[in-house]
Amino acid sequence: MIDKIEEVGSSKATFFALLGGENGGVETIRALVENFYDVMDSDPKAAPIRAYHSKDLTEAREKLFMFLTGWTGGPQLYVERYGHPRLRARHLPFAIGESERDQWMYCMIQAMHRLNIEEALMQKLAVQLYGVADFMRNRE
Ligand code: HEM
Repeated sequence: MIDKIEEVGSSKATFFALLGGENGGVETIRALVENFYDVMDSDPKAAPIRAYHSKDLTEAREKLFMFLTGWTGGPQLYVERYGHPRLRARHLPFAIGESERDQWMYCMIQAMHRLNIEEALMQKLAVQLYGVADFMRNRE
């Protein structure tokens, strides 16, 4: 498994493939996103960023699932449906600093732990996602 993980980045194997399952990573990503928003919806540590979201998280869940499927190297579901994600621009209405970034990552790490994703894979995924979350910062 470690060998395979090392191949991520040299584009021999994608996170999507490494997340496994009969249909590639689709089920894992779906479960990851469900857990992610369940944590955000219930853990007081994430209350500030939860408050940025709509009361009903159905659309947020669906969009993050579609985005992450493509972002991990699977089918480009989000792009096919909505076009270029323009993620940073889309997040400008929400004040995102270090605290908000860390709350987002906290939810994601909790979600990964709930899924028992292999430690080494989880760490690589977390590092990459941290890069995206940090890029979303739009205030000191
Ligand atoms: C860093 C802290 C972040 C905060 C506070 C945040 C917050 C939000 C909020 C409030 C929305 C709107 C949801 C709604 O409709 O109610 C949203 C949408 C979204 N976020 Fe984030 N987000 C963060 C980071 C990220 C990251 C790192 C990613 C991707 C890896 C991401 C992917 C998305 C996507 C795909 C959408 C849907 C965009 C659309 O409307 O089409 N977000 N986010």
